[in-house]
Amino acid sequence: MRKKIVAANWKMNMTQAESERFVESLLLRLDDITDVEVVIVPPFTAIAKVSEGLGKAQNIKVGAQNMYWEKSGPYTGEISASLLRDLFVHYVVLGHSERRILFGETDEIVNRKVRAAHAAALRPIVCVGETLEQRDKGNVEKILSIQLRGSLAGLNPKELQETVIAYEPVWAIGTGRNATPAQAQEAHAFVRHTLHEMADDATAERVRIQYGGSVKPENARELMTQPDIDGALVGGASLDPRSFAQIVKAARDK
Ligand code: 13P
Repeated sequence: MRKKIVAANWKMNMTQAESERFVESLLLRLDDITDVEVVIVPPFTAIAKVSEGLGKAQNIKVGAQNMYWEKSGPYTGEISASLLRDLFVHYVVLGHSERRILFGETDEIVNRKVRAAHAAALRPIVCVGETLEQRDKGNVEKILSIQLRGSLAGLNPKELQETVIAYEPVWAIGTGRNATPAQAQEAHAFVRHTLHEMADDATAERVRIQYGGSVKPENARELMTQPDIDGALVGGASLDPRSFAQIVKAARDK
């Protein structure tokens, strides 16, 4: 059984004060949740505040939205895995489509970061997904296969098992237009099929695959009850503790 994982990707939002209020409110709503793994992914500037606010709450972890692959040194503006570990960060989102499209991240760059994250015992959440143009041309599987094989190259079975994949169709991000549960399940099944080709069967079955793209309380349950959808990576709806808590609770339903 794969434990569901629901993450809040705050992107470039949330001051320290807003983050503090969010955590207080979320803890009240989710203090009894142990059967779903919850991850808050603030901007770098709010990570310390969120870590501090979560304190001893074992069931909620902190993530980062990006990192650089070098350990330390003259890389102005970058953040390393060990600097994130210093703030009690467990997860790091890598290869988000906003980074691929706006900041030119290639599969090779994502792969370097994924391997550096594992080397520092940070768990990567690796994002893949097609654009609308690629979908309309019938290239979804081709794109997913290239992104997965490129981004995850060179991982051993243990590292692969500790990697979370997020399937985020670019056309569904921030548009209010989510993939239908059937469309998402079809893509997730293909992701898992690719993992079976890349690794042994037990490893491929253990990897958790999140869906991301306009997830809301209203559609979360139907998406996360699909057989290969193991959670959600939530953008806009994760900025409100009430709607994010509802999405987390939807992950408990069978
Ligand atoms: P939205 O939930 O705002 O569509 O964003 C999804 C996303 O990009 C999460 O990483």
